[in-house]
Amino acid sequence: MIDIDKIRKDFPILSRKVNGKPLVYFDNAATSQTPQQVIDVIVDYYQNYNANIHRGVHSLSQEATDAYEEAREKIRAHFNVKHKEEIIFTAGTTHGINLVANGFSSLIKKGDEVLVSALEHHSNIVPWQMLCERTGAKLKVIPMTQEGELDKLAFAELFTEKTKLVFVNHVSNALGTINPIKEIIAKAKEVGAAVLLDGAQAAPHIKADVQVLDVDFYVVSAHKMCGPTGVGILYGKKDWLEKLPPYQGGGEMIDQVTFEKTTYAGLPHKFEAGTPNICGGIAFGVALDYMNEIGFDKIAAYEHELLVYGTQELLKIEGLRIYGTSAEKTAVISFNIEGLHPYDIGTIVDKLGVAVRTGHHCAQPIMDYYKIPGTVRASFSFYNTKEEIDVLVESVKKAKMMLS
Ligand code: ALA
Repeated sequence: MIDIDKIRKDFPILSRKVNGKPLVYFDNAATSQTPQQVIDVIVDYYQNYNANIHRGVHSLSQEATDAYEEAREKIRAHFNVKHKEEIIFTAGTTHGINLVANGFSSLIKKGDEVLVSALEHHSNIVPWQMLCERTGAKLKVIPMTQEGELDKLAFAELFTEKTKLVFVNHVSNALGTINPIKEIIAKAKEVGAAVLLDGAQAAPHIKADVQVLDVDFYVVSAHKMCGPTGVGILYGKKDWLEKLPPYQGGGEMIDQVTFEKTTYAGLPHKFEAGTPNICGGIAFGVALDYMNEIGFDKIAAYEHELLVYGTQELLKIEGLRIYGTSAEKTAVISFNIEGLHPYDIGTIVDKLGVAVRTGHHCAQPIMDYYKIPGTVRASFSFYNTKEEIDVLVESVKKAKMMLS
């Protein structure tokens, strides 16, 4: 069991009011909240050792470099990555995906096929469409079902000897479905295709082990896991990262620069041009410490309880439909009420202190599949409670009454 009272005290924002009501924060899939332990590290960095890294011989620079590299090591251990240089610091998941998609421009050719799933966030669709436009490769889509799952019968047939790359999310941001990634990775291996998993929505809830998954690329954002915005990581197998060209040119990523020719630094620096989000990286490491101290097994079990309770209580509201009904789900409930626009529901519940996301959730193909403009999405975290779910349910009922 997790100690919910103790945990909630770590998050100062949870005791604030919004529109005169106690905040009920259910937009965790968009960004998670930050515990005091992480806030303290950010303040400490700027108060005591703010300096650029990997550059100066002075003490402050050394302290900052050590803390940043210590964070990389924590991240390596968390995801069970073999080599530290296989962890590339990025600005977040979108950056990581674009880095790989850009790199594949020289490894993909006309006639090759790349596979995406119908359940993706736009950030795991558009960079690959751009890659296809550059190279002439063909984008194929693994279809979805009414339950919001990937169509397992259809997907096996999509893999051919032309398939070079497969990119799917580990967990759908809009519906919470946990995708059958083991099967997808196994199928990709049969045809020799590389796999990139968008782990942005999985990593806050499931401890991914990249050795067990044997995945080629895994990307995450710190801000979904109690860390700050503007920082994330790309994990890539060393062989792949060595094959991919640098994404951005600049300082830090070079070995030798002359006007005739530049040679590049080794991993991970080859992909880390410019001054990074130093404080963000350090804070990401501490956010992982924080979550690991609670324990991912406990987090997953508690969030599942919230999911079951929330689903049961919301379904008591007449006319409410939940999108994404897979048995394999994280604690995300995407719903609509017959005849009402999600935006109107979101606006009213906000007046009652409840933060949910409304709209297409950057996953328009899913909304098109269901023929809806969007949904109301409540996404729970380990610091939420059943009492907060009761407030959500009462607020949605009030919204329904006001709008009907
Ligand atoms: N990708 C984030 C979400 O699903 C922003 O809300």
